[in-house]
Amino acid sequence: KDLVVEKGAVRFENVRFGYSTDRGILKGISFDVPAGKTVALVGPSGAGKSTISRLLFRFYDIDDGGILIDRQDIRSVTQASLRRAIGIVPQDTVLFNDTIYYNIAYGRPDASTAEIEEAARLARIHDFIVSLPDGYESTVGERGLKLSGGEKQRVAIARTLLKQPKIFLFDEATSALDSQTEKAIQNSLSEVSENYTTLVIAHRLSTVVDAHEIIVLREGEIAERGNHDSLFSQDGIYAAMWRQQMRDESVTERDESLSVVKANA
Ligand SMILES: Nc1ncnc2c1ncn2[C@@H]1O[C@H](COP(=O)(O)OP(=O)(O)O)[C@@H](O)[C@H]1O
Ligand SMILES: [Mg+2]
Repeated sequence: KDLVVEKGAVRFENVRFGYSTDRGILKGISFDVPAGKTVALVGPSGAGKSTISRLLFRFYDIDDGGILIDRQDIRSVTQASLRRAIGIVPQDTVLFNDTIYYNIAYGRPDASTAEIEEAARLARIHDFIVSLPDGYESTVGERGLKLSGGEKQRVAIARTLLKQPKIFLFDEATSALDSQTEKAIQNSLSEVSENYTTLVIAHRLSTVVDAHEIIVLREGEIAERGNHDSLFSQDGIYAAMWRQQMRDESVTERDESLSVVKANA
């Protein structure tokens, strides 16, 4: 039967999973993403964050526990209905070597031009598109080669918005974006995520400050959890990650202003 999505509440219940039987990846993960709220997953590379998004989309079945959407186990519903309900902005967006219009419309092929432009506006990519000589008819190149990482991600956000899913899943790109693009993306994310249940795999901690709950994953286990203020005052892994990122950002900003100085010289 089909998944019936009313509010889009997501629950992971003691989820255990390994890609192979000899190596467990998730070792009993439980969390809730209440309807309309944002929950952030953070943690070092290899901790199992992207695995959680693959399991929610049911690319794999779990070994133990349950994943529920509005109290329905995702194994008990059709994959088509599950995947209709969830919009994923993946870490690396695959774009087709076709027009920008086609790449956004892929989210909902029967959408009107007005709807496609509205999605692009929300994703803060419309102005960029119309500034191109061929506008929406511009081709993006093999795998989107002609676009920067930030532009590609915004096309992916537009595509996902067009789909109008109840549940949003953002796997932030790890590639270093310049700080202005990063801020623009962040603004569009927080703007659009208000109406959706959102699970965000965050690499930039500034994305997670307002999250309902932040889950710190380490080696397939939840090492810390709470909101920003409580995690910060715990002075554990999250607080250390935060301090590290603040240091990195001040270095990046200094480098960026240096390159401006050099370019002007
Ligand atoms: N398809 C796969 N087959 C086997 N192991 C995998 C596969 N995908 C990921 N892994 C392993 O699972 C662990 C968690 O990966 P992942 O969820 O991608 O981590 P994260 O997103 O937190 O960086 C890693 O050790 C990774 O090597
Ligand atoms: Mg990942």
